[in-house]
Amino acid sequence: MPPQSPIIASSAVHSLLTRLHAESTKQEQTWSHYLFNLRRQFFGATLESVDAFMGDKFVALEPEKCHFVYLLARSMGARNIVEAGTSFGVSTIYLSLAVGQNGGGRVIATEKEGKKAEKAREYWKEAGEEVEKHIELREGDILETLKEGVGEVDMLLLDIWTPLALPVLKLVKPRLKKGAVVIADNTTQFKMPYREFLEYLDQPENGLKHMTVPFSNGLEVAVYLPEE
Ligand SMILES: C[S@@+](CC[C@H](N)C(=O)[O-])C[C@H]1O[C@@H](n2cnc3c(N)ncnc32)[C@H](O)[C@@H]1O
Repeated sequence: MPPQSPIIASSAVHSLLTRLHAESTKQEQTWSHYLFNLRRQFFGATLESVDAFMGDKFVALEPEKCHFVYLLARSMGARNIVEAGTSFGVSTIYLSLAVGQNGGGRVIATEKEGKKAEKAREYWKEAGEEVEKHIELREGDILETLKEGVGEVDMLLLDIWTPLALPVLKLVKPRLKKGAVVIADNTTQFKMPYREFLEYLDQPENGLKHMTVPFSNGLEVAVYLPEE
């Protein structure tokens, strides 16, 4: 039996999340998906090839990771969250619920594929006002869309192609509050492609203390603690 969801949400939102996760999982349980990721894991992949393969796929964060991120956001009272990589907006729903339940704020969602952004908006509308109203979707290349107007950040979720993780972290880092949390997905699965990112986290002068939480394929959690 799957563990009970710790998410506070209406039954309609729970049903929507169950449906979207099921669609995402179904897409990932194919040979082509498995083989594509296997190649990526050991030989890397160009951004163009990942875009082409993943252009119509959810690649949503797994439910248990979403639960963990939601609880983390609730525990720290996060009210300003940046989500790097939104796709069809599944993880965004969790982040928005957390921000709303923390008293209100903003999730800056980012997606460069127009069709995905459109679909994400439809799902958020279906989720209703409690979800929709806290999301600001920035469409286009994240390295452009996050250049301005980000504010002070409590949490940065890096769920984007591995070569973008470090450039996005460097872009958002001046906006991180002390104690802000940075999360990156699949860091054990893609240990090689994440090498420079993980080395950056290891360098004490960058002010980030991190560990890998042992979810499937690994979830990196770093806390911004400059000068400690
Ligand atoms: C792993 S998916 C995000 C999944 C989402 N967080 C979820 O759990 O539902 C990564 C997304 O990042 C988007 N992406 C890739 N490169 C990007 C860029 N340069 N700017 C903005 N979005 C980008 C991809 O199109 C893809 O939809």
